[in-house]
Amino acid sequence: LFAAPTEFLKGVVAMDGLPPDDRLEVCFAGRSNVGKSSLINALTGRKGLARASNTPGRTQEINFFTTTGGPYLVDLPGYGFANAPVKVVEKWQRLLKAYLAGRASLRRAFVLIDARHGVKAVDEEIMALLDRAAVTFQVVLTKADKIKLEDRERVLTQVRGALAKHPAAFPELVVTSSEKGDGIETLRAIISTLE
Ligand code: GTP
Ligand code: MG
Repeated sequence: LFAAPTEFLKGVVAMDGLPPDDRLEVCFAGRSNVGKSSLINALTGRKGLARASNTPGRTQEINFFTTTGGPYLVDLPGYGFANAPVKVVEKWQRLLKAYLAGRASLRRAFVLIDARHGVKAVDEEIMALLDRAAVTFQVVLTKADKIKLEDRERVLTQVRGALAKHPAAFPELVVTSSEKGDGIETLRAIISTLE
């Protein structure tokens, strides 16, 4: 699935711009700056494929990437604080929510949580939306390289506690570092076995 190069297909700014839902897709959701675009780059082994940056609110469209014979990888705008005008942010937040709740071919949403910070109120909101839409979601902890091993357990416990309240949550967590490569092979395997 990830052997041949993943290609950028299109950036979408409205629901009617979505590509035909003729194959499965997985998306990457999470707070601004959590590392969604970086994770897609790590998964595909293509550093500049999804644009990442230190400015929260970098990704402002729903970006579709194709895999060979596998699902679309969908990079989403972040939620929470963004370095962009309020009106613009509101527009892409509405789109984000419409997409998450209304995309028939969305097989799994990966909800990215910063390994240092755990689940925040805005994450809970998105998880509740996914519950209502009956979209299975799986938590991926990001930036594992930035937290000491002894602090990791505390955050994992907090995340597991938060997930227990969400019927749509997939129980297995994946701990990743796009920087160091931790968990990337595991996540590729998970995506490859979805049907
Ligand atoms: P938005 O599109 O703004 O919502 O952000 P995003 O979630 O796509 O985050 P992005 O991938 O742009 O990464 C944000 C910042 O975090 C960048 O400076 C990345 O280099 C950094 N970053 C992402 N993943 C990791 C990681 O695993 N480890 C470390 N140390 N930094 C990371
Ligand atoms: Mg991004």
